Amino acid sequence: MTMNRIRHDGPLVVGAGLAGLSAALEAAKAGAKVLVITPEPLLNACSSAWAQGGMAAALTPQDSPRRHAQDTQAAGAGLVEAEATRILTEHGRETVEWLAALGAPFDRDDQGGFAVSLEAAHAVPRVARVGGDGAGRAILTAVVAAVRAEKSIAVWDDARLKALARDAHGRVVGAVIARGADAKPTLVTATAVVLATGGAGGLFAATTTPAALKGEGLALAALAGAEILDPEFVQFHPTALDVGVDPAPLATEALRGEGARLIDGEGRFLLGAEDDADLKPRDVVARAVHAARASGRGAYLDARTAVGEAFPHEFPAVFAACMRAGLDPRLSPMPVMAACHYHMGGIAADADGRTTLQGLYAVGECAATGVHGANRLASNSLLEAATFGRRAGRAVAGERGGDKPQPTPDLPDLPETAMAELRAAMTAHCGVVRDAQGLATLLALIDRLEARHGPAAVLLAARLIAQAALDRRESRGGHYRSDYPQAAARAEHTRVRLVRPAELEAAE
Ligand code: SIN
Repeated sequence: MTMNRIRHDGPLVVGAGLAGLSAALEAAKAGAKVLVITPEPLLNACSSAWAQGGMAAALTPQDSPRRHAQDTQAAGAGLVEAEATRILTEHGRETVEWLAALGAPFDRDDQGGFAVSLEAAHAVPRVARVGGDGAGRAILTAVVAAVRAEKSIAVWDDARLKALARDAHGRVVGAVIARGADAKPTLVTATAVVLATGGAGGLFAATTTPAALKGEGLALAALAGAEILDPEFVQFHPTALDVGVDPAPLATEALRGEGARLIDGEGRFLLGAEDDADLKPRDVVARAVHAARASGRGAYLDARTAVGEAFPHEFPAVFAACMRAGLDPRLSPMPVMAACHYHMGGIAADADGRTTLQGLYAVGECAATGVHGANRLASNSLLEAATFGRRAGRAVAGERGGDKPQPTPDLPDLPETAMAELRAAMTAHCGVVRDAQGLATLLALIDRLEARHGPAAVLLAARLIAQAALDRRESRGGHYRSDYPQAAARAEHTRVRLVRPAELEAAE
């Protein structure tokens, strides 16, 4: 097939969630002409719009960026980068106020300040919410309106990333995309590329994220030679609703913040009777839910007393998901399961989105800036997406591009039946509880699928996660190995580089 060629005189942003659009807005404000590509109309198929809890930030007199940073560090189990976390938490209020100024209708308290909720592992209530559990969609709606009003931003909402394009010096100078109904390949050269491609939840059979997000941005960045950081660290949310829907609807942690309790089928507490027992770090709670289900006891979230009649207006999104499934959470406990929710690992990037490759930036869930470590603190993801997205937008506006792009490999897609097989194996063997035998079984399946269908990007993404999970012989944060249940004395990052930098190759 012949390839169209387009030259865009500005940055190319791949992905239209909160991180990508925040980057686009700031780059445009700094004078750049921005092209955003996304496979779906804005607001669809990005995790940001599905976020329920809200945005964590130090917004009250009882709180401070320092306390927020301390909680972020504690949750991250020894692998949180202090400087990136300082930047993130110190910009918390500014980011929330920026979004409010764009029109995000944050809930307010009686004095007109931001109303905040308590979520697990936060020392104080600090999650700014919107309409109870509607934060993600409301925030993104405001950001999308700002993008639409910005003349320097063009959006193609029928375009999927197929490969990154580098020049002879290894600099990223554009991307190959498949565009339109015939998915015709188009090489777009640009001054730089910002990847905001989201996470990898679609690689797992049980996920709370859009199934279309399958780690392809991560894989394509790795193929281009970018360093990948800590890919084994995947967060499993303990209270995905087990109502036979794929992806699984989320029952926000804020429900437990309001006092909803995790119980088994006999009504016994899963994590103990203390009031705050269910607000332990997410990995601990996810394992308790997983164990209760594996042993046949079942796992349920009981909000009948704590929320009761207030459910429809306090948590409208969860209420609607329950009612669609024929379950009234005012009358019955909700069946829950642990499901893939967030990828802490990703493309190594700094707080300005810079990766190890010139011309390539990464923001949001596809990036690993080190602020989540081995276990992300609840509601830090929207904060990171907007805060570091904006910083990347300012940084990328100054990029001037490189030389002519070199040809890039054309990767096959994985057929649907093979994808279903991969997703089932990822949840079974690389889920809440992992061991060497299961991970080896998974890697053997990935080998077989690759031999049969070619080197699909989704297979590479799955391989990066599974191989790093096999290599990490300890348990830490979201990564739990039943054959190595203790944390190693020293916390160390995993760094993966598939392609040696072109500069090194040329020097030989
Ligand atoms: C939730 O609302 O429980 C999810 C929030 C998050 O993942 O940060």
